[in-house]
Amino acid sequence: MLGYRHGFHAGNFADVHKHIILLLLLESLLKKSTPFCYVDSHAGAARYDLQSEFAQKNREFENGIVRLLKTANPPAAIASYLRAVETMNATQKKGRTSLRYYPGSPALARQLLRPQDQMILMELHSTEAPKLKKYFANDHQVSVHHRDGYEGLNAMLPPEERRGLVFIDPSYEIKDEFTRLTEALIKILRKWPTGIYAVWYPVQGNQPTAHFYNELRSSGIKNIYLNEISVVPDTEPNRLSGSGVIIINPPWRFDQILGAVMDWLAPVLDRGSHAPAHSAWLVPE
Ligand SMILES: C[S@@+](CC[C@H](N)C(=O)[O-])C[C@H]1O[C@@H](n2cnc3c(N)ncnc32)[C@H](O)[C@@H]1O
Repeated sequence: MLGYRHGFHAGNFADVHKHIILLLLLESLLKKSTPFCYVDSHAGAARYDLQSEFAQKNREFENGIVRLLKTANPPAAIASYLRAVETMNATQKKGRTSLRYYPGSPALARQLLRPQDQMILMELHSTEAPKLKKYFANDHQVSVHHRDGYEGLNAMLPPEERRGLVFIDPSYEIKDEFTRLTEALIKILRKWPTGIYAVWYPVQGNQPTAHFYNELRSSGIKNIYLNEISVVPDTEPNRLSGSGVIIINPPWRFDQILGAVMDWLAPVLDRGSHAPAHSAWLVPE
């Protein structure tokens, strides 16, 4: 049974990091009018109430989205991310930007979809999946599946459009998550080698991240780029100290766009690691 509830973490530093990358990738797909498909294998609930008991428990959003909203002169490249957060809160107090809700990946992505684009969402949790279905009820551009994300990817890729982005954002609550993830990536990349893939992973002392990199390096998958930020020193094995995203088949010059944004973001989210954002090609093209 799944225990993880994203509501505890909504809007935290890792959400900010992964969601900025997500929207930058989607923006690259908007450059051509050809339809694309956005596929989210671990979609969550789409909308999180920051006043809920879950979010209020540790108020993680204060070290994430709240820091961003308080920082002057954000780079133009994150404008659509900030606008998407604002739009979700727009029906709140008129004329004032109050932060009540934080959009999850499907709600953020939905704001960038054009009429010709489609979205496929998967979520396994029995509480989160119905929320996701309700949020997108009657939206004919979105299909929601209450199922295992890895199995769903294998069954549904490639999408009809043959153009698009797959976002894989597991909760890492099962021990062999990295293994399942790598196995799934190898399978789906064979089925759809030209898709763009973004995979979130925790940067945390007790996680087998080095092993994950090695598995990817020897997987036969090409064109793998990674970006990590670290916000607190990695001294406590059970504490999330940073956030990482693997990008397979990044758009042309994406490393340059991302580099500039992350140079700005890392100090905004920093709480003592004083580490610059780290980017590298795990496997070149
Ligand atoms: C980190 S949260 C996702 C957050 C969401 N992607 C976002 O950015 O707003 C991970 C989600 O994956 C779900 N989940 C866990 N294992 C899954 C699986 N095997 N297939 C699909 N969903 C799963 C969890 O219930 C949780 O909602």
